[in-house]
Amino acid sequence: MFDMVKKFLRPLQLLIISVFITSSSWQQGQQGQDITIQAGKLIAEVQPTMWGVFFEDINFSADGGIYAELVKNRSFEFSLPLMGWRQVRLNGDGRAVPTFYSPARANNPHYVTLYVNAESGYYGLLNEGFRGMGIRENIMYNFSIMARARENQNLKLKVELVGQGNEIIGSTEIAGFTSDWKKYTSSFKATKTELKGTMRITFSGKGIVDIDMVSLFPSDTWKERPGGLRKDIVRMIADLKPGFIRFPGGCIIEGRDINNRYQWKTTIGPVEDRKLIMNRWNVEIQNRQTPDYFQSFGLGFFEYFQLAEDIGAEPLPVLNCGMSCQFNAAEVVPLNELDQYIQDALDLIEFANGPVTSGWGAIRAKMGHPEPFNMKYLAIGNEQWEEQYIERYREFEKVLKEKHPEIKLISTAGPYASGRYFDYAWSELRKLRPDLIDEHYYMPPEWFLRNAERYDNYDRNGIKVFAGEYAAHDREGSEPESRNTWYSALAEAAFMTGLERNAAVVHMASYAPLLAHVEAWQWRPDLIWFDNLNVIGTPNYFVQKLFSTHRGTHVVPALLGGKPVTGQDSLYASATIDRQNNMLYVKIVNSSRTLKNIQLNIDGPAPSKEGTVEVLRADDPRSFNSIKNPELISPAERKFRIQGRKISVNIEPLSVNVISVPFR
Ligand code: AHR
Repeated sequence: MFDMVKKFLRPLQLLIISVFITSSSWQQGQQGQDITIQAGKLIAEVQPTMWGVFFEDINFSADGGIYAELVKNRSFEFSLPLMGWRQVRLNGDGRAVPTFYSPARANNPHYVTLYVNAESGYYGLLNEGFRGMGIRENIMYNFSIMARARENQNLKLKVELVGQGNEIIGSTEIAGFTSDWKKYTSSFKATKTELKGTMRITFSGKGIVDIDMVSLFPSDTWKERPGGLRKDIVRMIADLKPGFIRFPGGCIIEGRDINNRYQWKTTIGPVEDRKLIMNRWNVEIQNRQTPDYFQSFGLGFFEYFQLAEDIGAEPLPVLNCGMSCQFNAAEVVPLNELDQYIQDALDLIEFANGPVTSGWGAIRAKMGHPEPFNMKYLAIGNEQWEEQYIERYREFEKVLKEKHPEIKLISTAGPYASGRYFDYAWSELRKLRPDLIDEHYYMPPEWFLRNAERYDNYDRNGIKVFAGEYAAHDREGSEPESRNTWYSALAEAAFMTGLERNAAVVHMASYAPLLAHVEAWQWRPDLIWFDNLNVIGTPNYFVQKLFSTHRGTHVVPALLGGKPVTGQDSLYASATIDRQNNMLYVKIVNSSRTLKNIQLNIDGPAPSKEGTVEVLRADDPRSFNSIKNPELISPAERKFRIQGRKISVNIEPLSVNVISVPFR
């Protein structure tokens, strides 16, 4: 009922906005302010890479998230081989014995032997999924299993999807197991939607069977790729029209220790040969321990490149630089043993860009992509600091700049927005030749509001900035999504006007982290939340989307009293023009609780007679979007008339506004 009322109130709210944005509304709010847009004065190019995304396998982003596999621990390679599984006895009996070691498959040595004694019933295993399995009615599901029967080749397998009320909501059968390892497949339709289903695989008969790689995928993956990605989550990312996608992290590339680092070569090729490792977020956060968090690498480097290509984003891989996470083991690889790490970088460039006649190019082609991925950026290390990083980065740079001058190298300023590590990194890196330096800041909203001028004094001719991880960290709340407050998003928007105004320096920026499962997160806030069936954009997501879908090609001045608008009277603004589309975009943020009358004076090319404003706002700065209420804060769009070169607009309290004006 309440939702219905809100639904009807929304158009009313939009109507009010549209009334405000007319030339006659100029007198309605408080005293007016003039912002002059010098639309003919191009002060910097906005890079196509300006607004991107940062994907890290944290919060069940990959396994249990965007990677659509529904079976957890499908290859029995978790440290406890039966984690995620339990035995099922339905008028039958048996034993499940995890078996190690199959030398034939060094990367995937475990399998489970089932001793089945179920002549008049069933015995087998149940998989609990990643906090359950999200199942959709009428969708086809593709089941597969590797198996070999050791005794009694007449064992029959029944596969069943089970709802929370224990009802069967989809099933299939497989028979004819042979004494050789073979992959068996079967597809079936689900009869009911279920947020937290499970899957039973039970055998009837009497005998012994070895099983491995037990897998279940929905058929409606992104681009219908078998074994692919969840299309609702990919769609949300694609809708941001990101200029780049940085992957696969984050701290996971560093690992808790060197052995736990991300090694791209073990993430490509047939999925059963990809070497599973523990995800460092499994144990990282004391009060959010996640013992069942591993990396199957079903989403591996090939798939990341493919995803980047699908959504039109530049792929930006990050590689380990011979150091493990300095917040954890902080080990380094001796400088004279770095060759293997540097070789990994060279091989990655060949994998991404090499011809099919090259060794790694041939592997890419074999995986189904003969054309190069055209990778242009490579980050060396994630969030490292002090001399031990600079020494290692230098070695990478020496080789990579010589062999691949076409690749833009990204180095790091460490984990903090300022301070000793930060200053040291910048001063040392200025002596070297990185193309961009990656800066990270997870700070309170007030910091973002105070720092819209952060880049105003950066050297225009110096190394460019990649604002690679940032998010305003507002206070904690009880619901998972509750830290993504409207206030945090508003503060980020204010800060982002500063990034945009400084596009001469800032060439890339990405909020972090990108994804989080509501029941399996370790870190928040995050840009996009999901459960097994739903995905939602936070207010922060809508801010990112407003900026990235109104990027423009060049920055033009937006001036209040002759100065950039960086917080005067709680107003923040930036403007770009889009030369291809002949458009002007003005972003205005009002971080106060007061309505502001703004008059925009457009100098330079003349505006046409009608424009559009998209407004993102909420009365309550602590409000947030949730799976239950996904669009509480979402943009409302209205058209307005323009008279001459002046646009009068009332900017609502606590609002982010993107004004789009076509030029005549
Ligand atoms: O985004 C979460 C973590 O924050 C990243 O893994 C790391 O780079 C940073 O410390």
